[in-house]
Amino acid sequence: MIKLIKSTFYKEAETKRKLCDFILHADKLSIGQQCRTFEANFAHYQKRKHCVFVNSGSSANLALIQALLNLGKLKKGDPVGFSALTWSTDVMPLIQLGLTPVPVDVEMDTLNVSSRTLKNVCRHRPIKALFITNLLGFCDDIDQIADYCKKYNILLIEDNCEALGTVFKKKRLGNWGLASTFSFYVGHHMSTVEGGAVCTDNEELETMLQLVRAHGWDRNLTEQKQLIIRLKHNVNSTFYSRYTFYDLGYNFRTTEIQGFLGNNQLQYIEDIVDKRQTNFFRMAAPIYAQTDRYFPIRYDHIDVVSNFAVPVICRSGKIRDELVTRCDGKVEIRPVVGGDMTSQPFFHKYVKENGGWANSNARLIHEQGLYFGNNPELTKKEMETIIKIFTQT
Ligand SMILES: Cc1ncc(COP(=O)(O)O)c(C=O)c1O
Repeated sequence: MIKLIKSTFYKEAETKRKLCDFILHADKLSIGQQCRTFEANFAHYQKRKHCVFVNSGSSANLALIQALLNLGKLKKGDPVGFSALTWSTDVMPLIQLGLTPVPVDVEMDTLNVSSRTLKNVCRHRPIKALFITNLLGFCDDIDQIADYCKKYNILLIEDNCEALGTVFKKKRLGNWGLASTFSFYVGHHMSTVEGGAVCTDNEELETMLQLVRAHGWDRNLTEQKQLIIRLKHNVNSTFYSRYTFYDLGYNFRTTEIQGFLGNNQLQYIEDIVDKRQTNFFRMAAPIYAQTDRYFPIRYDHIDVVSNFAVPVICRSGKIRDELVTRCDGKVEIRPVVGGDMTSQPFFHKYVKENGGWANSNARLIHEQGLYFGNNPELTKKEMETIIKIFTQT
């Protein structure tokens, strides 16, 4: 069986040995220097000024929305667009934090939101923010989306949990809006087992994210920022200052184990992205050429395609079902990400339909799509097996 995920880490055996050694000799395992170093290293890699390391991609999403509310950049009830084809914990924070989720459909040939689908929604339903998902390492015309958002004062934030390393028009995905989120869960591009991050160039947002990450207190802020916030709130007592809670937060802190793993795996990121892209091209070209059976997927507008799975969208449910049978016991497959969010039970429970959603593409991908894994450890033989299964008629 060719599994979706082949290993927990890139260079697994070596990484585990180094991890054991690190734990044996570490004085402290709660959040500290390793995490701070990882934040600096990751921000540098992503070409962003700031990175706030948290315990999952889902926490990164929730922390970002909470921070925007704390700063008043979003207000309760605001309509927020999101990619209709995404992961549950992109939509759930919107519901949990009292915003109004507005689904935006994706394009069939990129699986992503485009300026066309965004404008279709905004014509009927103006939105205050767009939480776009860069699905499976792809994007559509995110440059046009960013321009449109700027023109109409729509706050653009990106979920980049599936597109770490992708470059479009010479700029990394995750750098097109105010902030972006990342996941370091096993099977994503690089793993800290569990882990996530928010990146931004905005210092005020970084500071708020640091508060949101840890109870709403100021302990992880720099001394200078602690002074400013304490002065603002008239906190003069050193006895109370460490237990003063300034705004709404959670506990999304990471450990030094995750920090160590992040620093270790980040050394290999270029290699990881390179291998994933090579594997993707190798498998996608013959499979996507079967346009009578599968919808074509377009990626030649992207400079570097970095994904961890290869989606296949069938022309009919029958073709998809045949593939499911053919893959049984040979290639592990699954639905495309979390599918059409508006079809999910939680969405029906909490969001009123308002005359129905126009997500025909997300729905079709949900009903006729699947994906298999793409990772750096795939062998030539495994890729040949996959290609054979998906191209045999
Ligand atoms: C687009 C997207 N966002 C967020 C997440 C959540 O990340 P995590 O599993 O680290 O919570 C996922 C998970 O796979 C995802 O695919």
